[in-house]
Amino acid sequence: MRPLQLDSSDVLHALYNRPPRELSAHGIRYERLRQLFKTRFPESDPKFIVRAPGRVNLIGEHTDYNGYPVLPMALDRDILFTAAPSNGTTVDLINENPQFERRSFNATFPVAPFERGDWGNYVKAAVHGLLEAGLVSKSKAVGFHAAVGGTIPESAGLSSSSAMVVAAALAFLAANGVECDRNALADILARAERYVGSEGGGMDQAVSLLAEAGHALRIDFFPLRTELVPLRQELTFIVCNSLIRAPKSESVRYAYNRRVVECRLATALLSRAVTQRTGRTVKAERLSDLSSAQLGPAYPELGETARHAIGERPLSLSAVAELLAMTPRQVQREYCMQRDGTPLPEPPDGFRIWNRYRHIVTEAARVGLTVKALKSGDNTEVGRLMNQSHASCRDDYEISCPELDTLVSLGLENGALGARLTGAGFGGCTVHAVPTETVAEFLKKMDVSYYKGYVKREQARPFSSFNNLNDVMFSCHAASGADFWPVGEG
Ligand code: GLA
Repeated sequence: MRPLQLDSSDVLHALYNRPPRELSAHGIRYERLRQLFKTRFPESDPKFIVRAPGRVNLIGEHTDYNGYPVLPMALDRDILFTAAPSNGTTVDLINENPQFERRSFNATFPVAPFERGDWGNYVKAAVHGLLEAGLVSKSKAVGFHAAVGGTIPESAGLSSSSAMVVAAALAFLAANGVECDRNALADILARAERYVGSEGGGMDQAVSLLAEAGHALRIDFFPLRTELVPLRQELTFIVCNSLIRAPKSESVRYAYNRRVVECRLATALLSRAVTQRTGRTVKAERLSDLSSAQLGPAYPELGETARHAIGERPLSLSAVAELLAMTPRQVQREYCMQRDGTPLPEPPDGFRIWNRYRHIVTEAARVGLTVKALKSGDNTEVGRLMNQSHASCRDDYEISCPELDTLVSLGLENGALGARLTGAGFGGCTVHAVPTETVAEFLKKMDVSYYKGYVKREQARPFSSFNNLNDVMFSCHAASGADFWPVGEG
């Protein structure tokens, strides 16, 4: 493997696919982390660098854990580790952001978590997951020390947490001299991240590991498959942060896990209905196992069966149990369990299973159509599909909030062809498809209408503050996936 020279613009160009004048900032970051490493770990030299990008999802929201495709791209915002193997099992982490305190632990299985919400848990998730999967030997594991830095806004739906898991995993593998197939690693890390408590799907880890510069990535799951979708110069995707935090390990966890459970219940109700209709036992693990493509052309009326089996009204736990001919306790044990071993508390307003189902199947179809539209350069169609996706996320999946809805409508008023929330939702960011020639004007208008307008007016809302507009609103440049390199001398 070629050693990385920190000032090598060729290497940086390959990673970030940006013109030379924009690369120096990255070079400076790499150098700054090397200095931090040397100050905090004076007993050793850094031996390798790891980089893992965040992502923006263009379309396909909450489809991944249902077995349907997604269409994200990697950002040129990433997590960096400058690291070296330890002498024993110690993992020692210093973060250049003083908000994240120094953390250390032993890479011995099982790895007990820090308190909920602690940044070190994302590193623990990777170490625990790789030990559990047997990729790193439980008896011979070597730890690492690392200086950690990042440019992905956190709790913003841009996958800073999964980038941290991926970077930590690559550092742990490098410290142990283990190589691994990237698809297999993406699967292992998707499971590993559930360590922090949310029942996430596999999109974030997969795109961070498998993306290529200049492309979006269509990802299909079970088994993991990817297709590169070239992005055209004339269309730019712009991310706007609503400034409403959506931390994966905290408030969003219940809301996210609830959607996962509602989809499991949809799968169960629909499997039962199809079995009853066809007389042949259909055992589906997830909604995609029940698509008409899977069941064959003999089963075109799936949507009607679903409407019948699920009904359009919210269902209580006991109503679901009755429909499944089970007891409420059996339903909880079978479908409502979370990673921490507790059942998801029943939502007081009932499970909204029909709406969740409708979002997932229509969203899955939109992913395929968006890939087609991007390939043929039909940007109006891309925008139209994004708008439909946002409406479905807002009304059927109920993962939007007033700030995301405001950003979407302002975006459309200010010249976007399409706009939608991106990521898990409940806060975080929107993504806007904007003709490249109008980007500068669009950014100006969004600043005036949202950041200087709406945010100033709605002072009672819990907005995060920011120093630099470019940290909360920026054009996305599709970067390449995660990597690690030995550090060159010099
Ligand atoms: C989070 C999860 C992903 C995916 C998105 C919603 O980012 O980690 O797996 O489910 O939410 O699309």
